Amino acid sequence: MQYKKFYNGNRIPQVGLGTFRVENNDECNEAVKFAIEEGYRSIDTAKVYGNEEKVGEGIRLALESTGLKREDLFITSKLYFEDFGRENVQPAYQASLDRLGLDYLDLYLMHWPGTNEAIMINTWKGMEDLYKNSQLKNIGVSNFEVEHLEALLAQVSFKPVINQVECHPYLNQHKLRHYLEAQHIVMESWSPLMNAQILSDDTIQQIAQTHRRSAAQIIIRWNVQHGIVTIPKSVTPNRIIENINVFDFELTDDEMTQIDNLNKNQRIGPDPKIFEG
Ligand SMILES: NC(=O)c1ccc[n+]([C@@H]2O[C@H](COP(=O)([O-])OP(=O)(O)OC[C@H]3O[C@@H](n4cnc5c(N)ncnc54)[C@H](OP(=O)(O)O)[C@@H]3O)[C@@H](O)[C@H]2O)c1
Repeated sequence: MQYKKFYNGNRIPQVGLGTFRVENNDECNEAVKFAIEEGYRSIDTAKVYGNEEKVGEGIRLALESTGLKREDLFITSKLYFEDFGRENVQPAYQASLDRLGLDYLDLYLMHWPGTNEAIMINTWKGMEDLYKNSQLKNIGVSNFEVEHLEALLAQVSFKPVINQVECHPYLNQHKLRHYLEAQHIVMESWSPLMNAQILSDDTIQQIAQTHRRSAAQIIIRWNVQHGIVTIPKSVTPNRIIENINVFDFELTDDEMTQIDNLNKNQRIGPDPKIFEG
């Protein structure tokens, strides 16, 4: 597994398991347990996914079956709109920990910026309080555009270590990625496979054939070579294995450029500038 280093010296595995749209049932804990057994060290969940209990169960089962320690894993959850506001952050974090059955998170993200700048900044101050006063290892943001980050960075004491945003070859976030690089904030891609909609793309398919890899592996590898952290979701055992098996081949510069050129600024998720939950 390759890791990306944060500006604060901590690090995150470059490929992790996403859990959005995975119900809070045995499919969830089985996928999480299987992924950790197969070498995943990073799991991404959120309060709003409604599956923190089963994600936590999968983590406990995997620690038992593998003999790994909690500190070998990197667990992320997220603060949702109803918990925005400085005073609400700590109780929301504790509630996520209780549902997960954990005593700390490796990363807590502010899930969206919202549309009110004052609330956004005030909520981030609550994230900073938590970072200073608890065992929480890292704080970050999600779905922040350059404009949100400019406003945030002008007023805060601890900048986010990471920004988790929609990113795939049809929305390659070129401008945001370069801005984040300059700010030493790691970029993380959600829906890296465009929720499976991009897997039949001709260019991706052709590159996949050249390397005798799947389309998913080509896209995940494209993320890795751009220095992006990524969290493809799957509950299917052979896909879970496939998606992490991307560290033994390399795309050429020309193949990277061909994939970069697929960009059409096409989102599948909401526009962060207007989304309010
Ligand atoms: N911060 C945010 O606002 C935000 C928003 C959305 C998502 N996320 C995070 O990002 C994660 C990933 O995004 P996502 O779940 O939206 O979509 P995704 O990872 O782009 O795609 C998931 C879909 O692709 C399929 N798939 C996975 N690997 C495959 C493979 N190797 N071959 C063929 N199909 C494959 C999965 O099917 P099966 O599961 O049936 O195998 C599932 O239908 C989420 O789970 C969540 O943790 C964050």
